[in-house]
Amino acid sequence: MYRGDIMSDKTATVTIVGSYNVGLTMNIPRFPTEGETVTAQNFSEGPGGKGSNQAVAAARLGANTSFIGKVGEDQYGDDAIKLLKSENIDITHTAQVAETHTGVAFILVNEDGDNEITVAPVANNALDSDVVQSADDVIRNSDCLLLQFEVLDPPLITAAQIAADADVPVVLNPAPAREIPPSLVSNVDYLTPNESEALTLLDKDLKDKTNHERLGKELLGLGFESVIITQGSSGALLVSHNDSLSVAAPSVPVADTTGAGDAFNGALAVALGEGRPIEDATQFACRAGALEVTKQEVIPGLPDRTSIQSISEYSD
Ligand code: RIB
Repeated sequence: MYRGDIMSDKTATVTIVGSYNVGLTMNIPRFPTEGETVTAQNFSEGPGGKGSNQAVAAARLGANTSFIGKVGEDQYGDDAIKLLKSENIDITHTAQVAETHTGVAFILVNEDGDNEITVAPVANNALDSDVVQSADDVIRNSDCLLLQFEVLDPPLITAAQIAADADVPVVLNPAPAREIPPSLVSNVDYLTPNESEALTLLDKDLKDKTNHERLGKELLGLGFESVIITQGSSGALLVSHNDSLSVAAPSVPVADTTGAGDAFNGALAVALGEGRPIEDATQFACRAGALEVTKQEVIPGLPDRTSIQSISEYSD
């Protein structure tokens, strides 16, 4: 397995088209059942949204990062702009939408660090194809384009088409999972679902636990070139038409799993953008995901390269 240098001679340029949500997080002893009220031990408010989280992840790992998205014209939107600027992310194509609320996520985290999330996209739904089209140059000049499902289909389809026309690799993190339009499928190079997202995409019952290699192969059958199923503390499974490969994650103490997928996807895009082979890129991403879960909330846990270097020294 890969034991190469975590540092890179090449600086990747990564573009993310996606969401920003303020995260309203409650730490609870256990998830409520239907109709039940559970008292939280703690409440916190902080930046989130899969697109923005993935952009911060990429920037912290040294990529020249652009974020294309929409936030509201409210305090949360101001906070979003401040965060993205402070992380050196190019936001030329991110705007605040007048008289609109910034996207919101309600996040419950139980004592095991597992989470349940509901999202109100609000301003994120104002992101349209025209905005993406105006960022045509940015996407064409990227080494990797990274997409998720917290914005509507048209901007994602447009972005993936621009990238495909310019031979820029496209990573789609199908979270939260929904039906993927064929015009998007054909332009995705790497699909990165977790188990429940893979099951949803295949229209299977979420209780239908099945072999991940089989799930990966069935997703390839929908027209994807390469599927990487993220498996939490077990790492990730890379499935292509020729073979499949398990990549382990370092074992770490878990504080909060929120954002693990975002750390994984941001890191994957950076490593692919640096030209690393997919096996190495997946291992790099597993390390980033592992580091993310060691801290409460998303942004504080997103690692830089030095942290990835140090976890690599005592893992595998
Ligand atoms: O992936 C975690 C993110 O999902 C949170 O930051 C929350 O905002 C939701 O979008």
